[in-house]
This record gives sequence, structure tokens and C-alpha cells, in this order.
Amino acid sequence: MLIHLNQKDRQFHLTNGQVSYIFHVMKNGQLGHLYYGKALRHREDFSHLQTYDVPTGATTHIYADDPAFGLETLRQEFPAYGNSDFREPAISVSKATENHIPNFTYESYQILEGKPRLEGLPATYTEDNHDASTLQILLKDEFLQAELQLNYTIFLDKPVITRSASLRNAGSDELVIDRFMGGSLDLPDKDFVFTHLAGTWSRERHVKERRLETGIQSISSLRGASSHHHNPFLALKRPEATEHTGEVYGFNFIYSSNFLMQVEVDHYDMARLTVGIHPFGFKWNLEPQASFQSPEVVMVYSEQGVNGMSHAFHALYREHLIPSQWRKAVRPILINNWEATYFDFDEEKLVKIAQSASELGIELFVLDDGWFGKRNDDTSSLGDWHVDLNKLPNGLDSLAKKITETGLKFGLWFEPEMISPNSELFKEHPDWAVGIPGQHYTLGRNQLVLDFSRQEIVDYLYDKMSTIIKQTKLAYIKWDMNRNITEAFSNNLPVHQQSEFFHRYILGVYNLYERLTSEFPHVLFESCAGGGGRFDPGMLYYAPQAWTSDDTDAIERLKIQYGTSFAYPVYSMGSHVSAVPNHQTLRSTPLQTRANTAYFGTFGYELDPLKLTEEEREEIKEQVAFYKAHRELIRDGQFYRLLNPFSNNETAWMVVSQDHSEALVGWYKVLATPNPKKQQLLRLSGLDESKDYQVTGSERTYYGDELMTVGLQLPTEFNGVNGRSFERGGDFQSQVYYIRSIEDKLN
Ligand code: GLA
Repeated sequence: MLIHLNQKDRQFHLTNGQVSYIFHVMKNGQLGHLYYGKALRHREDFSHLQTYDVPTGATTHIYADDPAFGLETLRQEFPAYGNSDFREPAISVSKATENHIPNFTYESYQILEGKPRLEGLPATYTEDNHDASTLQILLKDEFLQAELQLNYTIFLDKPVITRSASLRNAGSDELVIDRFMGGSLDLPDKDFVFTHLAGTWSRERHVKERRLETGIQSISSLRGASSHHHNPFLALKRPEATEHTGEVYGFNFIYSSNFLMQVEVDHYDMARLTVGIHPFGFKWNLEPQASFQSPEVVMVYSEQGVNGMSHAFHALYREHLIPSQWRKAVRPILINNWEATYFDFDEEKLVKIAQSASELGIELFVLDDGWFGKRNDDTSSLGDWHVDLNKLPNGLDSLAKKITETGLKFGLWFEPEMISPNSELFKEHPDWAVGIPGQHYTLGRNQLVLDFSRQEIVDYLYDKMSTIIKQTKLAYIKWDMNRNITEAFSNNLPVHQQSEFFHRYILGVYNLYERLTSEFPHVLFESCAGGGGRFDPGMLYYAPQAWTSDDTDAIERLKIQYGTSFAYPVYSMGSHVSAVPNHQTLRSTPLQTRANTAYFGTFGYELDPLKLTEEEREEIKEQVAFYKAHRELIRDGQFYRLLNPFSNNETAWMVVSQDHSEALVGWYKVLATPNPKKQQLLRLSGLDESKDYQVTGSERTYYGDELMTVGLQLPTEFNGVNGRSFERGGDFQSQVYYIRSIEDKLN
């Protein structure tokens, strides 16, 4: 049983032996929060966890005869603002024409086995009802005639609880929602490090940390995408917590548009976390009988440090978020022509690339930007989704056939949400672009955004894309989104509903994804937004992999992939080997290091194989074979971060199979050290202490405990002595070790 009830005291305890989440109905009928964290033994009554017995002169109170009962000092489940709670709330809703302070009081509860899907929104799911239980609490505001439903799902074998909320207008007056968060959590203290992932184009998801302090600290996006700049992920970590030990709470918002994740620390050092659609510029008109569903918040609790938190996210997303058909499917090693040709290609060139890639063992050819309309650079043709017969005179079908004949599958790039001012589509439908007619339209990469809040536009793209998928028998689609949204207005919405635009837009995107992925479940989708500008769990629900960053430099990727792995499984990260000097940084790194970094992701190449030397081709054949031999381990294994690139010259990480029988360790050193220390040991994680392991490159074996407590002996580094240079050495060195247990000697 995952959900315990105390009907008399109206208390709810969600627990699975790993975490406990406890709340109750307070004396004013609203929901009060009691506890969230490490699992507690169940007891009949937890009401003593509510503490409000210290009234002071300055506090406000609801009842004349109970001066201590004020919402200012009480922890709540889904707070509103206006009567004695002065912190920022989870909900703000009113009638269009009358004043009122929201007062949602408890009506009833319902327990469901498994987890219902969220209408129109990506969310975690269960296929087997035993995997989770869901508690739905119904609250009602009598004056508004509004029903608020709070959904809590607890997973059976994971330290995970998910939350979402929906609001139904059960009356006959229109309601206006100003703020509607997915979840809110009042923590009793502020002793945490606020840890998040920030960046920009080509350096996404760098790890940032700061201590919580009195006041409000937040991360957010107002760009119409989850953004390169802040990922909808936040961890609250105890100051003493490390990668491997200590308490960490992790939060991720399953949404791809404007979001806010905020912690407000008050004068009593209580910390209120709110996560949801960004309230700035948001207002939703709720017609009688209509409902509004919030996106979902994932909450993870870990006692095993930041790695422990990541393990919970990874397992959850592998098993309960990405499309189930991809859970156990091997993803093809791909070659993408973008950095090989940019816009300059023809059929012959592409087929030659595919032919050459096929000889290397690569499995999928992806034709990137530039195959449609008259797109010879980025100033035209988005929206004109028909093949450019100047470049490909025999059409896409012929190209697809020729590529397939080389033994590779065929995949295609689209940027469905965009329209170039210089396009046939814009001439025909200028009003389809997002913006205010007659006023200034801001460009991004020379393009405008299509109004995905309009169903006919989503339908149009569905027709175009589904026709091409069928005709060319596509195996893969890279769905790009290269600019953020400005002048966020729809030509189709009345003025008072323009504040609904951003949410309606992303619902349109989800709708197109939903239709395409359900009609073509065999097509592998990779999401992309100018690299990793929409790498979020909302996208992972449809597209099991995402282009991590346009930055393919192996050294930059150490930080990007390290940060991304805080929340997202390594197998969701598109990571490719590209040519040197690198196109983003102009840095030259060894081919081995480029592959050693890219192995920890969905592997591929982003270069012209015709320009490789024979030696490089041989090396790449070995890389491809190596990845093929280990990709199931990378897909299913437990990922551990070992050395942090943000504070070290070295980075290390590893993947261990669930049965601890094998592992892959990656070790990277950015700058060479002259005359370095002679014994370099890397402490591993996640192995079985008593298993005897063989490490590639070494004849002898090591027990797991030795590898984890003493460490793996790294090669001594030589950078040159007396003018002699050695094969190994120099900057940007790396090593990948495959480790396999030979037998269980102690058991
Ligand atoms: C974006 C993507 C790249 C590539 C280009 C094509 O920048 O992130 O990988 O597809 O668009 O224009």
C-alpha cells in the first residue's frame, strides 16, 4: 500500500519505504503540509508535525479564539494569497466581475491504481497499474464555484512523487486565472544549496550553485521555450551533500515553454518552492464548465547525494516518460550532414557521404537543413516543406531510396514551427506568423514563428510532415526550433485572451508531436532547439533523444553533458564526433577524445567522412564497433559522475550495468600537466564490492571494493622529455575503460 489514510483526522501519507509525503486538512478546511523527505514509519496520527504554537504580536490570525492559527507560519499544500499568507502563492483566480480571496477547502479524495494521463500534456505514465498509486484531492471554493483537483502520484520502487493540479469552473460565471502553478512545497528550513543548470547557445546546462538566502531566488524562462538559459530543473541540496552522499531534493517541470521555479525564504527561514507556468504575462479565461490542467512537477528525494537524485530521474524517464517503444530499442548510430556540407549539397554528394559512412558501420543518414524550398542559406523557405529540385532534381524519394541502398536508414530535418518572411507560405498566409499585424516583427535567425496556437496551422504541418514521412519512409526526424518567441500575439485570439498565447502555442506543438508519434511510432524523433534550447522532460515524452548542444567540441561537451546528466539519462543526449578544428570553438582535440566523450550519449558523427584519412577511417570503424558493443549498457546502466569538470582539470564518469557485471569508465584531462604525479587513482562507483573485475588494457583483475576505495590506476602521463615526444600526452587526453566481472569469487 503506497497511500495511507487517516479518515478521522483527514491525513494522507504517501510512502514507498524510500520517501514519505504527508499532509492533512487544517482546521480551516484548507490543506496543510506536514512532511516531505526520507520515509517515516507510518503512524495513525501525524498532526503533531503541524507546528503553529508561537503567536507573536506581528502575526495575523484567522480565528479570534486561536491567535496562533495564521497562514503566515503554516506550511501549506497549494497556497493562495490574501488572508494571512504573505508569500507568493500557488494559485490566484477570481471571477471576472466580483472580488474574492480564493478559499479552496477540502471536499473529498480518490485513490487510483497507476497514473492517469494528462489531457494534451506530456507527463510520466504507468503501463502497469502496480507501478504507482495516485491520490486525487478535490477542493472547492464555494464563492467561485470552482473545483481544484490536486494529483499526487507515488511510484512503487522509486523515490519519486509527481504532482499536478487542475481547476474546473463548475459555476456559471467566467473565471480568470492569474497564476496556476503545478506544485508548491513548504520546507521547514533554508539550509540548502540552490543548484540549477544555466547557459546559453553552445554552452547549455552548466551547473550553478548558491546558498539559499532570505528573499526570493528563482530560475525561469519567458522565451516561449524552456530555453538554453535555464533548464526547468532545480535541486535543493544540503550544504554537506556530495555527488555520492547526503540529502538532495530534485525538481523537474515537464513543460517546454515559459516556466518559473522559485524558492521564497521567509523571515522564519521557511523555504517555499513553487514550480509552474510562469505567471508573468499569463492569464487564462476559464469558461463555465471548462477545466485548466497544469503541467506536471517531478519531485525526487535522494539520500545518496546528487548522483542518487540523478539515478531516480534517469530510471523514471527511461521507464515512465520516453515513448515505451524506445525503452528497449537500440538507437542507430547516425551521421548528420550539417557540419559536413551546411547548405551546399546535391544528391551525389549526399549519397557519397552515406556510402562512405556505411563502410564505417554507421546506420542512419540524417539530411539536415537546406533540402526544401529555395533554402541556400538561413534567410528563406521555412514553411515551404517541399523538396528543392535544384539541389535534389530526382526528389526526396529517389534520394531516400539511394541512401537506403547504401545500407543506411534515412532521416530528415524539419523546423515545423517556423516561417521565413521570404517563403511561399508567408506570401500566402502572412497572418500565420506570430506577431501584431501592422506592427514591428522581430526576427530571430531571419525567421518568424508560426502560430501553433491555431489548430489549422498545426493541421497543415501534420499534413505536410505525415505525407513526407510516408513517401520517403522516414526512420528519423530531427525537429528543430531555432528562435525564441517575440511579439507573442496570435491573430486568432481576442485581446483578452492574448495572455493565453504561450500556453496555447506549446499545446499546439505537443498536439503535433502526439499525432505524428502515435501515427508513426517507428519514427525516431530527436528534439532540437538551436542545439539544446528545449532539452526538457516535456520533449522527452515524445522524442526520446535531444540534440544536446550545437557545440560539438569534446572539451565543452564535458561540462554540457555533465550538467545535462543531473536530470536526464545519458541515452537521451545526442552526442556526435565532429571534425577539427571544431566549428564552434576552433579547438583541435584528438579523434579518440571526441569519441570518448560522445560515447556517453546517443552516438553519431557530424563530419564529412570523405575528408578522413585512411588511418582516421580505421579508428572510426573501431569506435563504431565499440559503441555497438556497449550501447545497451549505456542505455540501461546506472550513470555516475565521478570528477566534476567545473572544478577540475579532469572529468570522469561511468556507467554500470544494473547487475554490476560490467561498466564503462570515461576519464578526461583538459590540459596536460608537466611532470605530473606518478600515481593517479580514480575511485569508481556502483560496482559490486565482491566481484572480481577485469579492466581493459590490464591482464590482472581487481575486486570491486578495491576499485571503489583505492581506485583505478590511470596511465602515467608523459608530455615529452628532452625533446622526445610520446604517443600519449599533450592537452585533451582521455581514456575509456571497459570493466567486466570475470566471476563472483567471494560469493
Ligand atoms: C540548428 C541545429 C543544428 C542544425 C541547424 C540547421 O542550429 O541545432 O544542428 O540543424 O539548426 O540550420
